[in-house]
Amino acid sequence: MTTTSRTKTRTTPLLSFCFITICVTLSQTVADSPSKAPQVGYGYTITTVNTDPTTKSLTANLKLIKSSSVYGPDIPLLTLTASFETKDRLRVRITDSKNQRWEIPQEVIPRDSSSSQSQSFVFQNPQNSKHILTHPNSDLIFTLHNKTQFGFTITRKSSKDILFNTLPDDPLNPETFLVFKEQYLQLSSSLPSKRASLFGFGEHTKSSFKLQPNQTLTLWNEDIGSSNVDVNLYGSHPFYLDVRKGSSDGRVKSGSTHGVLLLNSNGMDVVYTGDRVTYKVIGGVFDLYFFAGSSPESVVDQYTEFIGRPAPMPYWSFGFHQCRWGYKNVDDVQGVVTNYAKAGIPLEVMWTDIDYMDAYKDFTLDPVNFPQDKMKTFVDTLHKNGQKYVLILDPGISINNTHATYVRGLQADVYIKRDGVNYLGEVWPGQVYYPDFLNPRSQEFWAEEIKLFRDILPFDGLWLDMNELSNFKTSNDTPHSNLDNPPYKINSSGVQQPINTKTVAATSLHYGNITEYDSHNLYGLLESKATNKALVDITGKRPFILSRSTFVSSGKYTAHWTGDNAATWNDLAYSIPSILNFGIFGVPMVGADICGFGGNTTEELCRRWIQLGAFYPFSRDHSVINSTRQELYLWDSVAASARKVLGLRYRLLPYFYTLMYESNTKGTPIARPLFFSFPEDVTTYEINSQFLLGKGVLVSPVLQSGAVTVDAYFPKGNWFDLFNLSNSVNAKSGKHVTLDAPADHINVHIGEGNILPLQGEALTTEAARNTSFELLVVFSSNGNSYGEVYLDDGEAVDIKGSKAQWTLVRFYGTLHNDSVSVTSNVTNGKFALDKKWIIEKVTFLGIPKHERLDRIDSVDTESELNVVNRMNSMRKEVLKTKFDNSSQFA
Ligand code: GLC
Repeated sequence: MTTTSRTKTRTTPLLSFCFITICVTLSQTVADSPSKAPQVGYGYTITTVNTDPTTKSLTANLKLIKSSSVYGPDIPLLTLTASFETKDRLRVRITDSKNQRWEIPQEVIPRDSSSSQSQSFVFQNPQNSKHILTHPNSDLIFTLHNKTQFGFTITRKSSKDILFNTLPDDPLNPETFLVFKEQYLQLSSSLPSKRASLFGFGEHTKSSFKLQPNQTLTLWNEDIGSSNVDVNLYGSHPFYLDVRKGSSDGRVKSGSTHGVLLLNSNGMDVVYTGDRVTYKVIGGVFDLYFFAGSSPESVVDQYTEFIGRPAPMPYWSFGFHQCRWGYKNVDDVQGVVTNYAKAGIPLEVMWTDIDYMDAYKDFTLDPVNFPQDKMKTFVDTLHKNGQKYVLILDPGISINNTHATYVRGLQADVYIKRDGVNYLGEVWPGQVYYPDFLNPRSQEFWAEEIKLFRDILPFDGLWLDMNELSNFKTSNDTPHSNLDNPPYKINSSGVQQPINTKTVAATSLHYGNITEYDSHNLYGLLESKATNKALVDITGKRPFILSRSTFVSSGKYTAHWTGDNAATWNDLAYSIPSILNFGIFGVPMVGADICGFGGNTTEELCRRWIQLGAFYPFSRDHSVINSTRQELYLWDSVAASARKVLGLRYRLLPYFYTLMYESNTKGTPIARPLFFSFPEDVTTYEINSQFLLGKGVLVSPVLQSGAVTVDAYFPKGNWFDLFNLSNSVNAKSGKHVTLDAPADHINVHIGEGNILPLQGEALTTEAARNTSFELLVVFSSNGNSYGEVYLDDGEAVDIKGSKAQWTLVRFYGTLHNDSVSVTSNVTNGKFALDKKWIIEKVTFLGIPKHERLDRIDSVDTESELNVVNRMNSMRKEVLKTKFDNSSQFA
């Protein structure tokens, strides 16, 4: 179509120069040199560039160079806008200049897109035909290149490292061009393959946390068991972290990290080759956000500041959960609760799967096996014992005129439609209609149904399953348009499966004429959001929701589990990358089905799985109907391990809870990759089999059958075994260590420089909260340590609401001249004081053998313990310090 292959002189009208607060408008002529004339190939070229002094943004108009017939006609004119929304967040949006296209509505993901109040500078360097957008306080630079084909780069100002580079490096390779068609969008960035390590792009089950080259990552929410590796699963998160190794010239330091989000809800393939990441998207626009970092932690902070901070979780949700599909009746479920108590294994939450429903109809109880009176007594008893109850809800509403929920939904006209009638799907109850959560009426309907049911049964949390949307009957409906059968086939299920497979047809319509094609990936997010609001309104308490399907920002409303894994050693191992990914996606409350969902577990696998699962942020045993039962008390060895590891989990509850608070404040994951604490240690980028809880608790599980040792990597520092403080590992620099891991043991270490708040073991979180506190103070080699504890009632909706309702204590430990001290800095001490919580014991670790710290490179655990004992006996009274300001015991 349009080919511009001649040398010519172009006039770029009204190019604006902005400098501090003075903006000058200029008209600029730019000459293309003959060598820059477009050769063979596609892509776009720049026609004009403008800057807007008010929005501090740069806008470029792009024109198609040459069209291709593959995947439909090209859109001839595009507009690119680049702007700094904050100093750490740079947005680049490319869309059709003439026609409005689908973009995720503000109501779905509210975001502040106003440009940063600080001044952005724009200037042009005509020699190189470059336009540059910078910000005085930002480390990011946006450069628009006007070469043969258009391209832009994002560079780190401080190190000159190119972070994202869309300039086609080979004019003959169409894979690297910008392509923008109605149903196919392509954008590619080259990467320094030797230095860039990418993490993210979910949801997929992977053996490796770090993305391995030469793979296609498909994002299209699908009900497919998570035991299927490498294929698109239940959620979509088009976000990645790029952690860089240092450059040979020393300009880039190892651990320098940035993040990239493509805010787009359409189906896509992300092709990662190691030296390139290419987005191939079947709709919407390119709306890219670059997060400057430059530490992994700060990227997640900047990312969750934008998409929404993770939801606060109730204290009780950090207890242990038991679930199973296939519990026969109330007595069966009650029996499980009783057996946990008999075995002395903590059980916080009992769950019921679809079995409790009458013919799998939402908001009903099976009158024979789960009758209302018995269920009410059961739940009341749980509550009396300080335990909780969570039940499942599926979105499909059974089509049945005797089902009151269905009838009310019909009357309120809340269901997804196709061809003007309610879209017919099929799930557990048989034929169903699906509430359309984009419709405000559906949100009201859903809230009302939850309220009515909760009046009957006072459940404590909700489990949202099958919300991809799952449809057992593959849509055989004749394709209505290219939406049902798009020209580019994403690699769904790894086999380019039609997008209508096992879900709602893409031409179905939601409220506001939004197609399923565009909003498919948003369903789980919208359902979680509606459910969260409903529970807050109904209970006035902090909700607990577990959703299988997720999208960008789901963490603001829900926890997540990794879906239908299998009772295999591989799936045990793969749970670690999955959990770490969700932390990066801003969904830190995450766990995998402990002991495995599908298939029959074994005693050994279940034992190893609870040893690991006790340290998942969300810890739940769950299994499929018809598999052998796998409650933890069923084998003596599993029960013994469960008591041991859940015992430690419950002692760590104040730590877990404070990590939840931290995630709610800054987005920092609860379970973290090692490189979050040790970004400069490049060995940590490769680790798939260990993780950190918070900054300093290192979990190194056994993941192979028959193994009684574990090869663990210890980053630099002193590490102490939390099950036996006199066992320590001293790593002068990072090192691999083979640790004993007998059948009943998992290695969990606390690293130097940390202070852990602990409480006593108990069978419920409520009972654990009534025990005294203990501090474990681990000095770093320079004699410092830090920790904090966040305290509130564990269920207030607003986690940092009224000052009377919470306390934050920061602890600073110092080791100096043979004396140790812990100073506390307390915010809102009254809440904790009123609760009469005390710190009964302080244990100091990491005290070197000799006085002079700089001459010490080993740790004398004997003398440490002596110090601990001495401190405990001598200072007992002092240590019974309440959480008031500046307590110091030296
Ligand atoms: C889905 C869920 C699983 C649940 C089952 C029955 O497979 O992923 O956890 O047990 O449905 O409701």
